[in-house]
Amino acid sequence: MFSFLIKKRFKKMLIIKLIDYYIYPVKNQIKKIALLTSGGDAPGMNASIRSVVRACVFHNIVPVGVYKGYDGLIKGRFEEMNARSVKGIINKGGTILKTARSEKFKLKTGRDEAYNSIKKNNIDGLIVIGGDGTFTGGLIFSEENNFPVIGIPATIDNDIFGTSHTIGFDSATNTVMNAIDKIRDTASSHNRLFFVEVMGRDAGHIALNTGVAGGAEEILIPEENLGLDRLIQSLKRSEKTGKSSSIVVVAEGDKTGENVFHLKEYVEKHLSDYDARVAVLGHMQRGGTPTCFDRVLASRLGVSAVESMISKKDGNMVGLQNNKVVLTPLKKAVKGVTKINKELLKVSDIMSI
Ligand code: F6P
Repeated sequence: MFSFLIKKRFKKMLIIKLIDYYIYPVKNQIKKIALLTSGGDAPGMNASIRSVVRACVFHNIVPVGVYKGYDGLIKGRFEEMNARSVKGIINKGGTILKTARSEKFKLKTGRDEAYNSIKKNNIDGLIVIGGDGTFTGGLIFSEENNFPVIGIPATIDNDIFGTSHTIGFDSATNTVMNAIDKIRDTASSHNRLFFVEVMGRDAGHIALNTGVAGGAEEILIPEENLGLDRLIQSLKRSEKTGKSSSIVVVAEGDKTGENVFHLKEYVEKHLSDYDARVAVLGHMQRGGTPTCFDRVLASRLGVSAVESMISKKDGNMVGLQNNKVVLTPLKKAVKGVTKINKELLKVSDIMSI
């Protein structure tokens, strides 16, 4: 029975490869796909690079890595890759293709240079791995040159419309949660209040999820500003209920105070009992080995991006919705805004009683 199943699966793979070899070449104009990573790096970017490269090889397409994002596209920093180019990277943070934020690509002259590089190297499609800034550049480039572009959402911020999860978000939230657990040890030893600032740019997804997971007494996010007085009242209530130490998770985009240090001073001024400290987690949230979730997500989205390119469904972003891989037009992905999870917000209020 077992060997029968293996034979059946092998037969299916063989049929797919025969179709690729004898049918796609007629229909499939895509012979070479370039891929790049752009914007802030995220754990899982390497897993997505690996997936795109191996899906290309599987479908008899030449994958071409572009170094340093859009700057590399402009300069023609291309390197043909193969299945072995991406061995041993699924568990590595960062991106082997490096990344950059390209000012020059924001200019038409820069994009025209990039298009010349693309044509000179006979590239038939471009897969861009990154966040909203990456997709905006990819969309403009695609429209200006009528050139196939597909986006893979990879940013720790999880602020991309059209996907429940961006690659890197799960890994970053686990990194932050582990940091909060460590901070809680020292906070409770010294009966201190800690303000822990986390990344997320203008979104509060990292703060909200890690605040709940880390048992924070307060979570301050840009999507809702309840004001300093409410913060004071909440901390007073915590103290009354016998809490001798507290953690307040603050999203870097939060506007409750001027910044996390101002919050500390304000609280110490109005609640003299509190001995407060600040921990800004910073770029450690962008590093580390990707979680299982992010590796699987990156592998799924990479394959879908290549197969969408082959079947002429370019101009889209591949994303996850209800655990299914779906396509969202890049136009919508760059314009859409992700909403904060209200149900999770309610949970966080109840948990901090
Ligand atoms: O977009 C990812 C991100 O880590 C944001 O959360 C953060 O605000 C920003 O990048 C930091 O950018 P940089 O790496 O350029 O300092």
